[in-house]
Amino acid sequence: MWDPDVYLAFADHRGRPFYDLLTRVGPERARRVVDLGCGPGNLTAYLAKRWPTAVIEAIDSSSEMVAAARERGIDAAAGDLRDWKPRPDTDVVISNAALHWVPEHADLLVRWATELAPGSWIGVQMPGNFESPSHAVVRTLARREPYAKLLRDVPFRVGAAVQAPTHYANLLLDAGCRVDVWETTYLHQLTGAHPVLEWITGTALVPVRERLGDGDWERFRRELTPLLDDAYPARADGTTVFPFRRVFIVAEVGGARRSGG
Ligand SMILES: C[S@@+](CC[C@H](N)C(=O)[O-])C[C@H]1O[C@@H](n2cnc3c(N)ncnc32)[C@H](O)[C@@H]1O
Repeated sequence: MWDPDVYLAFADHRGRPFYDLLTRVGPERARRVVDLGCGPGNLTAYLAKRWPTAVIEAIDSSSEMVAAARERGIDAAAGDLRDWKPRPDTDVVISNAALHWVPEHADLLVRWATELAPGSWIGVQMPGNFESPSHAVVRTLARREPYAKLLRDVPFRVGAAVQAPTHYANLLLDAGCRVDVWETTYLHQLTGAHPVLEWITGTALVPVRERLGDGDWERFRRELTPLLDDAYPARADGTTVFPFRRVFIVAEVGGARRSGG
């Protein structure tokens, strides 16, 4: 179960890639702006500020996240982004830190690029940190009993679906888009005790928490703590540096033809 409060604990750090993404998403005016996998809606609210005359459409598959977004005044709806189809007036589609949960997201990007009207924009950001220690130690611990049988169906490989940036660039260029794709590794400086554990509790560990009873969950966290502390040691000043790679994809639909590409 997604917990909006736990997720928002690192709102500043998690928000930065979203704002970096938005700097490259072009149109000055938009009629309809869509946020797919909107989460608790704090970043969706910025879309409404950036395009004040646009209708904001927001979708998330988690009822807790939809409720949190609605409390912020976002007209969010529960739904699976895989079923979403653009309306004719859709000018901007944003998906921040959500598409890595959808293994077939590359197909979706191509479908949206063909269904959206020329001149509309797609902006996507996904974590590209599947191989990082924070994920590797969770997978290692989850393979041990008693967790292995309880966590059998956790989609641990889901983040592995995130491809090299060139893959997305080529797909969207082939679909006739003007494309801007890049990757960045942020070095987040976190404070507090075991901050990486707290960070992933709001994201990668969500499906683990769902499947473990309270006792097993406490034990899992206890065993995970020293593994994460070894991988991300606290500095003498109390901060912990947490490298986090992210992949950014911006596409202007039909833009390749207009720019003669
Ligand atoms: C890490 S949160 C990101 C939330 C928000 N976009 C942000 O950047 O703060 C990922 C969100 O994607 C949603 N999500 C995952 N798979 C989804 C799907 N298939 N359809 C709709 N939402 C999905 C989750 O419920 C969760 O709220």
